[in-house]
Amino acid sequence: TNAVAGALRAAGSSRGCLFSTTASSQAKVAVLGAAGGIGQPLSLLCKLSPEISELSCYDIVGTPGVAADLSHIPTHSSVTGSLPSPVSFPMRGNMGLEETLVGADVVVIPAGVPRKPGMTRDDLFNTNAGIVKTLVEGCANNPVNSTVPIAAEVLKKAGKYNPKKLFGVTTLDVCRANTFVANSMGLDPKDVDVTVIGGHAGITILPLFSRVNGAKFSDAELEALTVRTQFGGDEVVAAKAGAGSATLSMAYAGYIFTENLLKAIRGEPIVQCAFVESGLTDASFFASPVKIGKDGVEEILPLGNLSPYEKMWFDKMMPELKSQIQKGVAFANA
Ligand code: NAD
Ligand code: LMR
Repeated sequence: TNAVAGALRAAGSSRGCLFSTTASSQAKVAVLGAAGGIGQPLSLLCKLSPEISELSCYDIVGTPGVAADLSHIPTHSSVTGSLPSPVSFPMRGNMGLEETLVGADVVVIPAGVPRKPGMTRDDLFNTNAGIVKTLVEGCANNPVNSTVPIAAEVLKKAGKYNPKKLFGVTTLDVCRANTFVANSMGLDPKDVDVTVIGGHAGITILPLFSRVNGAKFSDAELEALTVRTQFGGDEVVAAKAGAGSATLSMAYAGYIFTENLLKAIRGEPIVQCAFVESGLTDASFFASPVKIGKDGVEEILPLGNLSPYEKMWFDKMMPELKSQIQKGVAFANA
C-alpha cells in the first residue's frame, strides 16, 4: 500500500461467497482505466472470478473509490485502487502505475476516450494513442502483457517484446456476431461461436458466417448480419447519444477474454479470436482464431477457405487494416 499513490488494499473474505472457489488460483490481474464505463463493470466481473486472487485497479481518477466499493464483495480476491503519483514527486516515477503492474499475470487496458455520434474510431487516434503509449511504457518495466502495434513498438524499444503475449481484444465482435446470428436463426447464443477475423473497426471486422452450422442465409440476410456486426459499435454510440460507446457489453467481452487467458496460463487449452502479430496475411497484425497456452500464443490457426462473399470483404479490408497498423507503428516511432 502506498499513501502517495492513493492506493487502497482490502482483503476480501471467501465466506458467504456466491461463486465456487474450487478452481481458485493465484493470479493477479491489473485493469488500467478501471474507473471508466468499461473499466468499472470489467473490474466487477474480475472481482467475481475464481480465476483471480488479486485485482489491481488503476486510473487517473476514482480508483480508490472503485476499489473500496469492490472490496465489500465477499469473494476470495483482494483489490487495490491506485492513482498516478502526484506531480510533486516526479522523481518517484509513476509509483501508482508501477505498484498496479508489479507481478501482474494479465494486464487489461480499457483506458481511453470513447466516441461521440459522428466520430469514427480514427478521430480518437491522437488521444488514445498517447494513453496506450504511456500505459504500455509502464508495462514494459514489468514482466507482463498488453495491447497491439503501438504497444509492440513501445515494448520493442524497451527490449521486452514477446509477440506471443500481446493481444488486441476483439471478443466484442465475436459476442455481437454470436448474438445477431443466434437471434436471426432462432438459436441459443451459447451454441454459436462465430469466427471473426481482421481487425476492430468498421469493414476491417469480418465475421465468417458461412462457417456457422446449419447457416442458410439469403444474400440480403447475410449482408445485413455482416454489416450489423461491422458497425455494431455505431449502433451503441448512436443510442447513447453522446454519453459514450459500448461499456457493459465490452466489459463482458474483456472479462471473457481475460478469464480465458487465465485458464490458458493454468494449462487449459484455449482457442479464441484475438488481434495478434501474425503471418497469416500481409498485414503484420491480424485477428483470427489463436491457440493459447501457458506461455501465450501457441499457434495461429490457418484461416481456411473464405466464401466468395467473405473474400470480397477481405480484399476490401486489407488496405484499410494495413494503413491503420502502419499509423500505430509510425506514432510509436515518431
Ligand atoms: P470512459 O471515458 O468511460 O473510461 C475511460 C477511462 O480511462 C476513464 O476512467 C479515464 O479516467 C481513464 N483514462 C484516461 N486516460 C488514462 C490514463 N492515461 N491512464 C489511466 N486511465 C486513463 O470510456 P469507456 O467507455 O470505458 O471506453 C474506453 C475505451 O475503450 C475508449 O477508447 C473506447 O473507444 C474503447 N472501446 C473499445 C472496444 C473494443 O471492442 N475494443 C469497445 C468499446 C470501447
Ligand atoms: C465498439 O465496437 O463498440 C467499440 O469499438 C466502441 C466504438 O467506438 O464503437
